[in-house]
Amino acid sequence: MVVLQLRHFLYLAALLSSTFTFLFLYFQNSKLVFTYNFYSFVSERSQCACSICVADRGNSNWFSKRYQPNIPLLLNRTNSVLSAKVSRWWNGLQSNAGNYTEVVDQLFSLFPDKEHYSDAGPDRCRTCAVVGNSGNLLGSHYGPLIDQYDFVMRINKGPTEGYEKDVGSKTTHRILYPESAMDLGNSTHLVLLPFKILDLQWLISAFTTKHITETYIKVPSTIRAKKDKVMIFHPEFLRYVYDNWAEGHGLYPSTGFLTLIFALHVCDEVNVFGFGATSDGKWHHYFDETLTSYELGVHSGKFENETVNRLQQQNKILIHKGWT
Ligand code: C5P
Repeated sequence: MVVLQLRHFLYLAALLSSTFTFLFLYFQNSKLVFTYNFYSFVSERSQCACSICVADRGNSNWFSKRYQPNIPLLLNRTNSVLSAKVSRWWNGLQSNAGNYTEVVDQLFSLFPDKEHYSDAGPDRCRTCAVVGNSGNLLGSHYGPLIDQYDFVMRINKGPTEGYEKDVGSKTTHRILYPESAMDLGNSTHLVLLPFKILDLQWLISAFTTKHITETYIKVPSTIRAKKDKVMIFHPEFLRYVYDNWAEGHGLYPSTGFLTLIFALHVCDEVNVFGFGATSDGKWHHYFDETLTSYELGVHSGKFENETVNRLQQQNKILIHKGWT
């Protein structure tokens, strides 16, 4: 009798544990969804394979109101036509616009003409570091941590050489414009931020005739970078960041802010380094002595800062505050 009961017990335990394992495997990428009067598990695969996925819009109203997953991030021939609204705004940023259609044509006979980063999915966990140029990086010893991420995006002239301990040495993407250009390593994507059509023309010239040496200031006639790694921010993306994330503050968003929002769209986990002014509002760099007020000029550093902090509060990014 006791043997029989023990056998029943073992059967029951085996049944329960296999049911539990099955349910665990089935629902491990699922969400608990609350509907009007009841809640239930929905076998909807989560957005990515990281523990928290940036693009998951279910957990923040503030975020989901602003985040547009289908906005074109990078320019190619197919998505190059601009809406009247974007075209008007973008042309308003430049003094003398050239022939956009002609320039696009030249661009994509030279640089990769494809849709980048359409690989998001439940099996991907792409971790990223967005590294700004703030002086708060000095003494931080973040270098080894930064170099661990899949993508390391750097901005403008922020150097690595001589600062490896604090900023790392890996650079997968460098976001720049002609006036902030520098030479890149072989494994780095040059991501052009085009404030004007002349910037697109400069990019073409830098890889061909090298005849453009001046915009509103002197610019390098050429740049060391891999042609097949060139990418270009889409003007519509610039306008989207201005409208949805900078909420119309400043004249246009800063390079760092644009890069951070770009990372929200192409990464599953976003870590932010080197953002932040000094306590008295000075925009300092880790590599030079420039001290400008972040509220002067074309950007609204204060509002951008508030948005970046809000992104952290909503669990969308992780800010590494640095040292000073
Ligand atoms: O000064 P620069 O534009 O080259 O810096 C790159 C980016 O780093 C900025 O656009 C800004 O987003 C960020 N930054 C910052 N605080 C600083 C300096 C730069 O947040 N003190």
